[in-house]
Amino acid sequence: DWKMSAFVENSIKAIKEKVGDKKVLCALSGGVDSSVAAVLISKAVGKQLTCIFVDHGLLRKNEGDEVENIFRKQFDINLIRVNCEDRFLAKLAGVSDPERKRKIIGEEFIRVFEEEAKKIGTVDFLVQGTIYPDVIESGHGDAAVIKSHHNVGGLPDYVDFKEIIEPLRNLFKDEVRKAGEELGIPEDLVWRQPFPGPGLAIRVIGDLTKEKLDLLRDTDYIFREEIKAAGISRDINQYFTVLTNMRSVGVMGDERTYDYTLALRAVTTTDFMTADWARIPYDLLEKISNRIVNECKNINRVVYDITSKPPSTIEWE
Ligand code: XMP
Repeated sequence: DWKMSAFVENSIKAIKEKVGDKKVLCALSGGVDSSVAAVLISKAVGKQLTCIFVDHGLLRKNEGDEVENIFRKQFDINLIRVNCEDRFLAKLAGVSDPERKRKIIGEEFIRVFEEEAKKIGTVDFLVQGTIYPDVIESGHGDAAVIKSHHNVGGLPDYVDFKEIIEPLRNLFKDEVRKAGEELGIPEDLVWRQPFPGPGLAIRVIGDLTKEKLDLLRDTDYIFREEIKAAGISRDINQYFTVLTNMRSVGVMGDERTYDYTLALRAVTTTDFMTADWARIPYDLLEKISNRIVNECKNINRVVYDITSKPPSTIEWE
């Protein structure tokens, strides 16, 4: 795509000129936008860029390691990965209200980021992965406006910096993906489905434990693996599993079981404001269900969510 390669080339040149020999800081989530922004900046200024990746322990299976590998090994970016699973789980212990979970995670995220940023000291530029739809959403062109729904909203207040850089603010999502491909970012990351800031915390209904999160991660991994193998991952806009807090009776061999019910959620949508449940073929649903109950201890029932948005939301919490 010649237009995208020109965009990438021009952006790198412009960022180089703007940044000069100064320091740049980026909060990396592992999502598409912050990843493409970080790689673009790094192509322009190399080690003058430092990325902080807060791993709150609520990511999908292997995700933290994948992010670390791509940015450190493939792109040779200065990356600080902060592993704080224990810290987040301690804060979240016994909390079952969805909005309380979000608030705790958002606040703790800022605290961790702030602690790490302090160690680096004053930076000149802070990178934001703002894209064009975020600019429209915010209603005006103020560079300091951060996505309101994003859980790192308000971040700039906590960091000592002079200016924001938003290299993607003129791009639509599909253009960001194209730019990512142009930059050589792996396909799995560039085509990644949206993932909420609070992560798996809002996909375990009720209170969280490490065991429940690990169980959810295993089921989610199987679901994603089968969707990918069936070649339909780009036809479904978001798909994931939800660990309900309901148990039901089952039978395994001659044993009675009393275990968790797992829900599969998959939707098609253009804007995530409304969504339809995805018509996944029955045979594929059957295969996914069989694999999950066979491979994941403590799940003895799998249900498929067939509600659209509205009246439901995409997430269960
Ligand atoms: P709902 O569940 O409201 O989700 O239909 C719409 C889209 O937003 C994502 N989502 C979130 N993203 N922080 C985020 O960064 C959140 O707290 C949050 N809650 C929902 C959801 O995954 C879907 O893509």
